[in-house]
Amino acid sequence: VRRVAVLTSGGDAPGMNAAIRAVVRTATSEGIEVVGVRRGFSGLHRGELQILGPRDVANTIQRGGTILLTARSHTWRTPEGRARGAQHLRDRQVDGLIVIGGDGSFHGAHYLQQEHGIPVIGVPGTIDNDLYGTDHTIGYFTAVETALDAVDKLRDTGASHERIFVIEVMGRHAGHIALDVAVAGGAEEVFIPEDAKDVSCVVDVVKESVAKGKTGSIIIVAEGYPGGAQGVADAIEAGTGMETRVSILGHIQRGGSPVSSDRVLASRLGEAAVYALMEGRSDVMVGRQNHTITFIPLSDTWEKRKDVNRDLYRCAKTLSI
Ligand code: F6P
Repeated sequence: VRRVAVLTSGGDAPGMNAAIRAVVRTATSEGIEVVGVRRGFSGLHRGELQILGPRDVANTIQRGGTILLTARSHTWRTPEGRARGAQHLRDRQVDGLIVIGGDGSFHGAHYLQQEHGIPVIGVPGTIDNDLYGTDHTIGYFTAVETALDAVDKLRDTGASHERIFVIEVMGRHAGHIALDVAVAGGAEEVFIPEDAKDVSCVVDVVKESVAKGKTGSIIIVAEGYPGGAQGVADAIEAGTGMETRVSILGHIQRGGSPVSSDRVLASRLGEAAVYALMEGRSDVMVGRQNHTITFIPLSDTWEKRKDVNRDLYRCAKTLSI
């Protein structure tokens, strides 16, 4: 392996820069040149490639976002778009591509490998933590901290006004962020897409909270729960008549300086991705399970389902008395 390319794709996640830095510095220390692709697969099919040296990634480990920029590419979904991208990689004599992103990005990498034989390695980078084959994804820890900080602040104002706050967190179709935030934020109730409980149960939760003497309640809703936070708030107001406010945290959860857990995870996975290419691996994601680096076929990451931590779900309920 003499030259590898790296790109970030899909929704950005705090820690992506730490992963790019790890790829560049591991490869350089092994005598391998790195080509950075700007704007994900969109940039790849347009040929937006540039050499990256160790100094180009200096002062980036603490920065949110991605210095390579990112995009959700429509062109890449076509065989013609992928063929153009493959040709750019061949023109630059690239021996392998490292893709930092989520399942959509891994689909793109998988097809590139299948159709053009270019070795690809996936590095899990998404705040959603929804990829099978790794305990955590890069960006998840920071997103939880950011959401939790907001919940703590909303609790202050909620308690002062004796209001109910229904707070919606990201996670796409998964409830990982919601569960962690609910337990760490001391929420009265949490709604996640993995459990299809009816929204009407929130009415009893709120009434019981009031009966127990609680002033104000925090309800966490994952964006993937049908009806979202607004649906839950509507049910509360209709069933109790109590003053309720909705706060949708949104893209703030994707920004900010990565916390140490994300920086360490990104550094380990970025390093492992380079070694994986050197060992001749391809079409796999590098993950970390039980503190150990693992390799999972890319297709498993979206075909197999990663469940939420059911113990945490129970714990959230137990502690909300
Ligand atoms: O996958 C990361 C994520 O932030 C999800 O949590 C959310 O559903 C989605 O991306 C939002 O995407 P966009 O940035 O395209 O609005």
